[in-house]
Amino acid sequence: MALNDHGFPVISCGTGLSAWETRLSSAISALARASASGQLWLGLLVFGMAVARPAQAAGDPRCSRAERLARCAHPALTPARLGALARAARRPSHPLFLVDRARAIPADFPLARGSTWRSCRDPRPGALGDLVCLPVPRTNRFTALRRGAWDAARPRRSARTHDGLLVGHRGRIGFKAMLDAGLREGGVELFITSAFRPYAVQAAIFEDHVAREMAGGLDHGAAVAASATYSARPGHSEHQLGTTADLTYRAADGGLPGFGRFMAHQMRASKPMRWVRANAHRFGIVMTYRHDRVAATQYVWEPWHWRFVGVEAADAMVACDLSVAEYLEHLHRAARPPPFEHADRILRDDAAVTQPRRLIVARPGERVTARWWVTNLGSRNWSALVVRPVVVADALRDVPSEPRLDGCVPVFESTRLERTLVAPAAPGRHEVVWQLETGAGAALGELSMAVVVVRSDGQTR
Ligand code: DAL
Ligand code: ZN
Repeated sequence: MALNDHGFPVISCGTGLSAWETRLSSAISALARASASGQLWLGLLVFGMAVARPAQAAGDPRCSRAERLARCAHPALTPARLGALARAARRPSHPLFLVDRARAIPADFPLARGSTWRSCRDPRPGALGDLVCLPVPRTNRFTALRRGAWDAARPRRSARTHDGLLVGHRGRIGFKAMLDAGLREGGVELFITSAFRPYAVQAAIFEDHVAREMAGGLDHGAAVAASATYSARPGHSEHQLGTTADLTYRAADGGLPGFGRFMAHQMRASKPMRWVRANAHRFGIVMTYRHDRVAATQYVWEPWHWRFVGVEAADAMVACDLSVAEYLEHLHRAARPPPFEHADRILRDDAAVTQPRRLIVARPGERVTARWWVTNLGSRNWSALVVRPVVVADALRDVPSEPRLDGCVPVFESTRLERTLVAPAAPGRHEVVWQLETGAGAALGELSMAVVVVRSDGQTR
């Protein structure tokens, strides 16, 4: 299956074919390819497999939810199965409860009415309900997950995912099984930094973001708007469900990114998070706030935020390329919430650069540095925009300089971009160009550095 940059399947929409027609046509092309190469027996085998396999759906971000659903035949998406799930999922304790900007979780859930429980340090017996406390590494803090999202038995009916992967690890699913499998199968160390947040804690977090935005110079209204692009208001956070966790991992340098400011692009490119993206559905876990679905989720991209939804639903979401919001709206027959009043802050990818073209005069072999200020004109959140310097003509030797994350520089609000090069020995003019792109790959402009190398006698020839 072809995967896009973010690990999701890719197909194109608008062929006008039904799911069955799509399967048949891909099987016929496989047959034709194999026959042309003189391997008719192989062609027949591939044809049989392609027809027998469940259809896989769209990963083209331009596809509508309806198009994806029309092209995808997953057992969890039959009307009968959806009907049964939807009835059960009206309770907030169900992993498929719908919470978004418009629909809230009861304020006391999952704690008893009037509970003042705030943390795992609370010694009162029974105060925790079905929450399991988990230590947060490198801190003296705890976080918590509801037992079913942390550690559950593998459902008997699901042995394999739609893409043929083994469901769970040693017969278990949930975050614990995923962390265990990451270590044993993938050689990656994963950690949970923040999971369950009671209503009151989410309220305090939101207020904290507003205060920080105001300290950065915004008035109260603008600070609330900016905070709401990346932080849910109390009652509207998946963290309150107790089934959602923010993840981090041990990076190559031994650090745990995410303690401090999350580095979305570094996280996306890292081996541990690539493993999570390829395997999470085996454990019933999915990424809620996808980069390519911000219009549906109405929050900025959060590659660290993962929700336990159960294996059946997670597999359907991945197979049919549905975001959590799209799947849950379909399941609950719920309308998309009205556009978030500050959606432009999430949807807008734009940047301003001061002095995009630099001209520097240098001696042969001299180190030269160009600096640009890049301002994020879209969301003020750290994850919505990345500026990716791509060397398209490199006559000069590049000296790696920080901060560069896998070749990317995330632009928070206003970021100083710096590149150092070694001027070549040959006198004359040498030019290097970098392209600025959004995280989704849309071009935003160019930066260039022209180095005129002069010999000690002042000649450029
Ligand atoms: N950051 C996500 C949207 C939350 O606050 O739940
Ligand atoms: Zn989160």
